[in-house]
Amino acid sequence: MQNTLQHTAFNVEKVRADFPILKVHVNNKPLVYFDNGATAQKPTQVIDAIAKYYYEENSNIHRGVHTLSQKATTHYELARTTVQKHLNAADVNEIIFTRGTTESINLVAHCFGKLFIKAGDEIILSEMEHHSNILPWQVLCEERGAVLKVIPVTENGELNLEEYKKLLSDKTKLIAVTHVSNTLGVVNDVKEIIAAAKQKNIPVLLDGAQAIPHMVVDVQELDCDFYCFSGHKIYAPTGIGVLYAKAKWVEKFEPYQTGGGTIKTVTFEKTVYVDGPLKFEAGTPNIEGAIGLAAALNYLNEIGLDTIAAYENELVHYATEKLKQLPGVKIYGDVKDKAAVISFNVNNAHPFDVGTLLDKQGVAVRTGHHCNQPLMQCFNIPGTVRASFAFYNTTHEIDVFISALEKAIKMLL
Ligand code: ALA
Repeated sequence: MQNTLQHTAFNVEKVRADFPILKVHVNNKPLVYFDNGATAQKPTQVIDAIAKYYYEENSNIHRGVHTLSQKATTHYELARTTVQKHLNAADVNEIIFTRGTTESINLVAHCFGKLFIKAGDEIILSEMEHHSNILPWQVLCEERGAVLKVIPVTENGELNLEEYKKLLSDKTKLIAVTHVSNTLGVVNDVKEIIAAAKQKNIPVLLDGAQAIPHMVVDVQELDCDFYCFSGHKIYAPTGIGVLYAKAKWVEKFEPYQTGGGTIKTVTFEKTVYVDGPLKFEAGTPNIEGAIGLAAALNYLNEIGLDTIAAYENELVHYATEKLKQLPGVKIYGDVKDKAAVISFNVNNAHPFDVGTLLDKQGVAVRTGHHCNQPLMQCFNIPGTVRASFAFYNTTHEIDVFISALEKAIKMLL
């Protein structure tokens, strides 16, 4: 496939060859995969790292003196160091492995809530949060008699930061916002959000699920208290995710779940827990997931997140300009600072109908409310069609998508 973008810092054909699934056909058409926001495809480097673990090292970790167990333990802990370096966290003990963003947020809601939330306290979210960054806080507030406050979204899909600042008060105990909107791709000004919160000494959790595949994330520079992401959206396996938590929270929090691997000593009278992230990783963890995640991060860092961001930025602008030329297309969140995601609707056509007609032509997009019902209510729509790009996508694929969409529009009008 020919790529017509000017950005030459990396060879898109070369990276495409690393992703075997990109060769499959769907409905007798070459796959055009634009559902990367839901889950990204996996390169051979990640698949091979997992296969190598199962072929050569499979064993339990932190529990055996035998060689395989030692090797697996070393690779699991090396994966933690890889994540630490990727996020530029100050200490490896600030990296907790979870099942994904959802579990990371639940962990913080549970542990922070247990220690610090009481009746009348307030937690600030935003109108563009996906359900995983709403429900854990809603449950916590219901349990404790606390109150959710919501930062409104403007008509063009940005957070209204003036309104945000008005919500901050002595009652505010935590702010939990998304770094990048999963539906709109809008990149939030999290530095300004954190700066305002810090003036009042309020901790901030960033949901990084949609940011981490598209940009360099430096948690020390951001100075957030918590950063959450999922492996599967960053070219790693499903079932592995990360919670970055500043050391003071790792120390203060009590275990989220209890069980093997979390303890120093157990008697029937009392259990003493280990320090550090293992306190939160009860039971046998997703060892191959952590190894696959490290392989994915190493792979991305070889290409360079800045290179990826620049290329994806060109892709999203190319697609946006083409989409704007089609009759009846309305784009949501058409702002300058956005990740490689476009949400749109076509006249009054239902997003499912558009998505189904695109699928018939080999183009995979996500349709519906994107686990973002409050945002849909804000725009007064049932859902959108979402095209989300990765660095292995090309302008040729965008041309295929646009021509498939043109056909769909003709059929639906
Ligand atoms: N949160 C994921 C998405 O936006 C599943 O598609």
